[in-house]
Amino acid sequence: MKTAEIRESFLRFFEEKGCRRFPSSSLIPDDPSLLLANAGMNQFKQYYLGKKTMEEIGACSCQKCLRTNDIENIGHDGRHLSFFEMLGNFSFGGYTKKQACQWAFEFVTSPQYLGLPLDKLYFTVYTEDDEGFDIWREIGVPADHISRLGADDNFWAAGPTGPCGPCSEIYYDQGPEVGCGRPDCHPGCDCDRFLEFWNLVFTQYDRQEDGTLLDLPHRNIDTGMGLERISAIMQGKSTNYDGDIMSGLIEVGERLAGVTYNADPKVDSSLRILADHARAVTFMIGDGILPSNEGRGYVLRRLLRRAIYHGRMLGIQGSFMGAYIDEVVDVMGGAYPEIVENSELIHRIAKAEEDRFSATLRTGKAYLQEALDALAPGEQLDGATAFRLHDTFGFPFDLTVEAAAEAGHGVDQAGFDAAMDEQRSRARAQVKDVVWGKFDTVWVALADKFKSEEFVGYDQDSCETIVRALVRGDAAVDSAAQGDEVDALLEQTPFYAEMGGQVGDTGTIRASDGSFELQVLDTTRAERVLSVHHCRVVSGTVEAGAQVVAQIDVARRERIRRNHTATHILQAALRQVLGTHVNQAGSLVEPDRLRFDFTHFQAMTPDEISEVERICNDVIMRNLPVTTRVCGIDEARASGAMALFGEKYGDVVRVVDVKGFSRELCGGTHVSRTSEIGLLKVVSEGSAAANTRRIEAVTSFDALAFLDGQQSELRSIADELRVPVRDAAKKVADLQESVRKYEEDARRARRADAAQKASALLDDVIDAGFPLVVARVDGLDAEGLRGEWDLIRERLSAPGACVLGTVSPSGSPLLLAAGTDEAVAAGFHAGKLIKSIAPRIHGGGGGRPQMAQAGGSDAAGLDAALQAARAELAN
Ligand code: SER
Repeated sequence: MKTAEIRESFLRFFEEKGCRRFPSSSLIPDDPSLLLANAGMNQFKQYYLGKKTMEEIGACSCQKCLRTNDIENIGHDGRHLSFFEMLGNFSFGGYTKKQACQWAFEFVTSPQYLGLPLDKLYFTVYTEDDEGFDIWREIGVPADHISRLGADDNFWAAGPTGPCGPCSEIYYDQGPEVGCGRPDCHPGCDCDRFLEFWNLVFTQYDRQEDGTLLDLPHRNIDTGMGLERISAIMQGKSTNYDGDIMSGLIEVGERLAGVTYNADPKVDSSLRILADHARAVTFMIGDGILPSNEGRGYVLRRLLRRAIYHGRMLGIQGSFMGAYIDEVVDVMGGAYPEIVENSELIHRIAKAEEDRFSATLRTGKAYLQEALDALAPGEQLDGATAFRLHDTFGFPFDLTVEAAAEAGHGVDQAGFDAAMDEQRSRARAQVKDVVWGKFDTVWVALADKFKSEEFVGYDQDSCETIVRALVRGDAAVDSAAQGDEVDALLEQTPFYAEMGGQVGDTGTIRASDGSFELQVLDTTRAERVLSVHHCRVVSGTVEAGAQVVAQIDVARRERIRRNHTATHILQAALRQVLGTHVNQAGSLVEPDRLRFDFTHFQAMTPDEISEVERICNDVIMRNLPVTTRVCGIDEARASGAMALFGEKYGDVVRVVDVKGFSRELCGGTHVSRTSEIGLLKVVSEGSAAANTRRIEAVTSFDALAFLDGQQSELRSIADELRVPVRDAAKKVADLQESVRKYEEDARRARRADAAQKASALLDDVIDAGFPLVVARVDGLDAEGLRGEWDLIRERLSAPGACVLGTVSPSGSPLLLAAGTDEAVAAGFHAGKLIKSIAPRIHGGGGGRPQMAQAGGSDAAGLDAALQAARAELAN
């Protein structure tokens, strides 16, 4: 069976049993406390805790997962993968543990499905789980194929506290020749003989801080089967890298590097690393993750760089990730359309990172070289440096060891391991405890109760409706009185709740009988389906159940509408001017401005910005109709509607069409014809994040106000220059030209003056065993003083020295002593001299025998200082 067949057969099997098939959630989890999706159960957390309910008896899915706790182990054996697919079936009180075991057994052994022979299958249960043991026995598993293991193997918890429970694992026996050969080899042994491929967790407890286990509201099921592992088993292969998908990727590397898999263990590791990482990278970028220096962006960057590094180790030259991406898209795009849709972007991002990392790789090598050069013969390279090479430059430890050995040095492995352990426990601490996250319980409960409300705001500004619930702080309340802040849920609402970058509406909610009035300060979304009206009670007392009239601020909404449609037009214009790699990375649509973040790899030029503005205003002036319609996701995609990069959509979507120019999936509110936008002006363009640019723009009256502002700035500049606006630029250029001339003249005059002064000083040369000039030349700064010495030196007939004093243009006294090497040989020492005379200007300083300077605070002492110098040197 091919991987795709196994995937489909699993999902269909559980659908037939009455489970609802869920698409994989994105690798970017909904839960902000979880870095990356790492288990099938992630998207069902709220069901486990009883906060959400499901009509069907359970769920099933094939989930994209990424586990990166120990990236450095990946590739060194055939087991570890970073990205993998997890088949799973789940129940939240809907079917029993026995049922879950029976179905698992049926799916694994029935010839209709996997058809694996029972004598090759082994089952484990938690030591104390007699019930689990009996269930497998009843199903027909011989007792000697069931073992009991301890909590390490057979008790699964998402974190130190929260839902957990005993689990049961199913193993496949690859035969004694594969394993360690010990007589007591058993499922759970470290060797490769028994492969665990399916974990059935009976999630029934909620572990408390003090360790006690409380029963969850219902007994649950959470199973996970590694798709790569079961594919390899079904295809008679011994490792995760030998199944159909991964072996195709191994072949890409063989082709690129001209090597053969299974010939040299070192080469094999690199080939596996490339196959694994390239697949992970393709899916991560496909879900909207971009390389960066933190969070999931950093995980992506590490994977990309490690892959590139190993490509170089194999001798692959130039950019090569593209070949891998093509293969991943080719074999997995059928099941995951997002990587097909975003394939151009995936290519561009990977290529940009490849280019960037080539430079880092060189720097890393230089850093290593420098560290090695600094070592005494035979000295060890310290662990911290090796770790930094590994962590910052992506240098694997063994490469550092190799390079160090060539230069005759060892590496402190223990120090490196310690640094690594520390980082790993930091990473684990981050990963632990996050699977269950935290929930806003009041909203989860209300969302479950009301499911959704009706949004009438696409066509209506107001409506008559009922207050469904009131919430203050974390709890539902029955009423709120004048002056209170309260959140209100309505049965129907014209208020748009913040989403897709569009800010929430404001307005009023009034009692139909006039007994109270609420001011709506903002509207946000909770649990995806609820519109929460954040209100202040202006008068009277509001009660849950009251009949009200909800009315939005129409003028404000109109401005938001213009900016939202303008955002769509802007995106289409950017794609025309810059290319189709431009994808929305974020947006903010407010009444008075819009902000649009998009993927692009360099700053826009002024010409590109003008061209984008021109296209937008052309579309605005052509007065194109803007229409919306609701249709199936497949139909929308087929019609070429732009989807938000990395966004999850339901089966039914709304499509916003600017006739003949832009088509996007969007739930926001829009103008009905483009001319309502009036005018668009780009206010700024800059960097928002790595590979992401940000444009801010204004429309209609705000664009006019922006232009007015610029015009009055310009007018005041012209007034200052006393010319009409149209001549202002020329006038500024003329002024700059004359300033340049004046500055040149002044420089020339200063040079002539200094030369003249220097010549004059030479009239007064003292003989101190060498020609010596001691003089005061006011009005120079430190640099001017040194220039003066240069002139004196040029003009002296023989080698000599000088001591100069000045009161600088800023009023402080400065001293300089300088002499030629000959003067120094004859006993002159500028540093010592300055040290002895500087106190007279209340200053300090010193320097080399050839030159020394001092600054002080008492200009009155300058002459005395020079006098002292003269006296000292004349001796
Ligand atoms: N959550 C369990 C696991 O990740 C079973 O799906 O192994």
